[in-house]
Amino acid sequence: MGKIQRVGVLTGGGDCPGLNAVIRAIVVRGVRKYNFKMIGILNGWAGLLDYEWKNLDREEVSGILHRGGTILGTSRTNPIKTPETKALTIENYKKLRLDGLIAIGGDDTLGAAVKLCSEGLNVVGVPKTIDNDVGGTDYTFGFDTAVEIATEAIDRLHSTAEAHHRVIVVEVMGRNAGWIATYSGMAGGADVILIPEQPFELEDVVQSVNARRERGRTFSIVVIAEGAFPKGKEKMYLQSDKVDEYGHVHLGGVGNALAKDLAQMTGMDVRTTILGHTQRGGTPSAWDRVLGTRYGVMAADMVAQEKWGYMAALQGFNVVAIPLSEAVGVNKSVPPEIYDVAKNFFG
Ligand code: F6P
Repeated sequence: MGKIQRVGVLTGGGDCPGLNAVIRAIVVRGVRKYNFKMIGILNGWAGLLDYEWKNLDREEVSGILHRGGTILGTSRTNPIKTPETKALTIENYKKLRLDGLIAIGGDDTLGAAVKLCSEGLNVVGVPKTIDNDVGGTDYTFGFDTAVEIATEAIDRLHSTAEAHHRVIVVEVMGRNAGWIATYSGMAGGADVILIPEQPFELEDVVQSVNARRERGRTFSIVVIAEGAFPKGKEKMYLQSDKVDEYGHVHLGGVGNALAKDLAQMTGMDVRTTILGHTQRGGTPSAWDRVLGTRYGVMAADMVAQEKWGYMAALQGFNVVAIPLSEAVGVNKSVPPEIYDVAKNFFG
């Protein structure tokens, strides 16, 4: 028997296509190669606080590769919200006799992992989010699927926009980074793409829409990330004032606000489509299944090598282990040079 025997795995934060592919890969690699006893912590960090878990074996993860969601459940619970929750998390980690824990999540989940590592817990991370904004890795799994879904929606919206000679504003996810908007907008041939990294001038959007009409095109597709905002406003559009345990607001509404302004300023017929959680649901793309599988195998290997405080990351073509501290709190933005490519096709 190796030194590492009992290994936990949890999925935290918003769900993301490919989570089950990662879980399956961790369990298969962990059991087959290292003979780990795998323990699934339920509902993210909440499962450690509530002591809710289940054993994971190869049977349990059979047939889940293509399924959306996560067989473990997820939550936005912050295990280090108070000294009491932190103490309970550590206590239950010990009660479960874990030798290591794999946390699959975005910036919040991985940020908590870093803090818990400094308290002596053995944690490794896997970067997850459809937003693709985690630092240190070229891509998070889930992003590719979200882009595919948004692109298909934009394709479909083209024909109805054209039939009615309308402007359609498509609001996609992307809290602090406009990766989904930029990629789906480019792939779908959007006439304007608006992202949080580049606050927009309403006048410029109006000009692009008008310029297209002058060229004889009678419809426009405007893709906007939920976190985008106009220059000078420096404030995102919110659905409510409530914040989650990590202090995040519930975004949404910028698409409708923009549509209203555009209708007023152009006199055109404008509609909004908010893609919302359809971007996160359902079956992962082939790319995300492969990336998730590579991350999962790497994570199991990192546990065997006791690379605590590290995260699996895609750099170029390779999956490598990087310190979690290099990844969290970074907010990887869309590089201006990529956005500049998209801008060639505005208007
Ligand atoms: O973190 C990914 C994300 O999809 C963001 O783009 C979005 O703002 C957020 O999750 C919404 O998540 P939920 O509705 O689950 O709170």
